[in-house]
Amino acid sequence: MLKGKHIILGITGSIAAYKAAYLLRLLIKQGAEVQVVMTPAGKEFITPVTLSSLSGKPVVSEFFTANTGEWHSHVDLGLWADAMIIAPATASTIGKMANGIADNMLVTTYLSCKAPVFVAPAMDLDMYAHASTQRNLELLKSYGNHIIEPATGELASHLTGKGRMEEPERIVAVLDRFFDSTQPLRGKRVVITAGPTYEKIDPVRFIGNYSSGKMGFALAEACAQAGAEVVLVAGPVSLCERHAAIHRIDVESAEEMYRATVAEYDRADIAIMCAAVADYAPETVSDVKLKRTLEERVLRLKPNPDIAAELGRRKRTGQLLVGFALETNDEESNARAKMEKKNLDFIVLNSLRDAGAGFRCDTNKVTVIGREGSSVEIPCKPKAEVAADIVDILARYISGEK
Ligand code: PMT
Repeated sequence: MLKGKHIILGITGSIAAYKAAYLLRLLIKQGAEVQVVMTPAGKEFITPVTLSSLSGKPVVSEFFTANTGEWHSHVDLGLWADAMIIAPATASTIGKMANGIADNMLVTTYLSCKAPVFVAPAMDLDMYAHASTQRNLELLKSYGNHIIEPATGELASHLTGKGRMEEPERIVAVLDRFFDSTQPLRGKRVVITAGPTYEKIDPVRFIGNYSSGKMGFALAEACAQAGAEVVLVAGPVSLCERHAAIHRIDVESAEEMYRATVAEYDRADIAIMCAAVADYAPETVSDVKLKRTLEERVLRLKPNPDIAAELGRRKRTGQLLVGFALETNDEESNARAKMEKKNLDFIVLNSLRDAGAGFRCDTNKVTVIGREGSSVEIPCKPKAEVAADIVDILARYISGEK
């Protein structure tokens, strides 16, 4: 999708600037024409010679070339671009972009740029979390810029937290998706819950269920394939997400899944609740391993929050909420009752009475029931294919082709 595209790569003064060389290499390999624009601080971290060798174009970083007096037109650059990506973007550059402080070539180019702008922040965790940075990022979003959220991990400071610039492969995938206009969920943000939840009894025991996460992960891949940006809130599973557009949040308990999902819902266009969430959790959790005795033991349980029902309460016009129901009897009426009670738009029914359906297996057999009366049966097939069919139904619904 990037073949022939004109891309401005803005590089600022962060240690993550070393990753920009690889990002540039990937963009060139995809067939893009790339013009690098650097801030003065960016040049302290990586040399323009490295970048111009990779891009085949002189790097622009000053308004004038010192010895010739040649003026570099930020306006022409802004008009030339099909996209501008600032990676890494420091807190300082983000602040200047948000507030129109055009004191260097990069920010003046940004202000002149009519093309879509992507910003990949890179900074220490406390700088990223600071109210000022967050407010500036919100401002950039309100201007229509796309923020490629930083990853969580070890930072240059040796602290661990959120602030690492997203990996170049993932940034390229974001751009690639952006330019692929054929994808039905392009520009959509989808939150998916997957897997079981574990409710602790003591440090070695929990209440759980048989969910493997396979159905939820297949949905995440299918949504990402369809062009969506996906937030996958995963309970304890031993699966790996593959697509670069999937941002995974690991949780253990229903309470943790509730908090993570609700926090993401506001920005989501679609939410798919595929997790098998434990309905109850032990009222108290022992700090030490409970000893075996010959006495009967009573475990008091308290109800967990209902994530889907909470999203149903918060649902705004235009948001699509999809639930799952795994039933063992009175399947359709139970599923419809859940759809009603939780204010869902669709419910995907799978029954443990069907061979090859439900927990753990690689296949599923489902009926996708719509609030507006539709009902589509998907025969038993691999979960990846079932997920693709479900995504197809949702995409057609969103496009008005009900
Ligand atoms: O993970 P796999 O091994 O691939 O198995 C897939 C699956 C069988 C888990 C999946 O296909 C499935 O059916 N998931 C829903 C399981 C279920 O029975 O949910 P429920 O009937 O308890 O809940 C109905 C809906 O409310 C579900 O969308 C559920 O995610 C949601 N819910 C339930 C309870 C709760 N506290 N919060 C919720 O959000």
